[in-house]
Amino acid sequence: MSYRILAAIVLFLAGFLPSPASPIVSLLAAALPGGGPLSQESLAPYVPTPQPVVERMLALAEVTSKDVVYDLGCGDGRIVITAAQKYGAHGVGVDIDPVRVREANENARRAGVEKLVSFIEKDALNVDVSGATVVTLYLLSSSNLKLRPILTRQLKPGARIVSHAFSMGDWRPSKEETLTDGEGFNRTIYLWKADGVVRP
Ligand SMILES: C[S@@+](CC[C@H](N)C(=O)[O-])C[C@H]1O[C@@H](n2cnc3c(N)ncnc32)[C@H](O)[C@@H]1O
Repeated sequence: MSYRILAAIVLFLAGFLPSPASPIVSLLAAALPGGGPLSQESLAPYVPTPQPVVERMLALAEVTSKDVVYDLGCGDGRIVITAAQKYGAHGVGVDIDPVRVREANENARRAGVEKLVSFIEKDALNVDVSGATVVTLYLLSSSNLKLRPILTRQLKPGARIVSHAFSMGDWRPSKEETLTDGEGFNRTIYLWKADGVVRP
């Protein structure tokens, strides 16, 4: 049995996680050493958010055509592409993996929203997010905590942050919602509103 599967089962037996087959366990297991080519510097491995969860994240943030949505660790670009398609929002996706950035650009072109969105190959910890009105995250709790001081310093009051699955330490979300994805797994999403208070 591999170290990653064993670690996932230990977390499950310790009562932290709902099932070793759960998507959250997969994400955590993939983030453990040996979990992939990006494991050293990665904020999270690539695991896409299911489309019904993407839709709820954007609805929870009340995205409109006036918004600029940044997805930090954008994967195949689905969150900003959906925000552009469904709401006419502008979007910026950031990912350190050039394969994902290429894929996201191709998906935007296919979806016909390439004028509304752009994708940048960059470390999310070094991106200026001051132009965002909505930031979406599907990383890990530890990564959210690394981003927290950056987001709370740079975002203007009223900007929304939505995270799939992972919270942000002692910063209590203003809303929290659990839904069932297409495969019957529970997914929790969290919403915070920037209020000008910098949170280290
Ligand atoms: C769990 S996936 C989420 C993908 C997408 N946001 C979604 O919800 O479908 C995390 C993504 O973060 C990217 N990533 C990991 N570390 C990063 C970093 N330091 N800067 C930017 N992107 C990063 C990975 O390449 C991966 O595509």
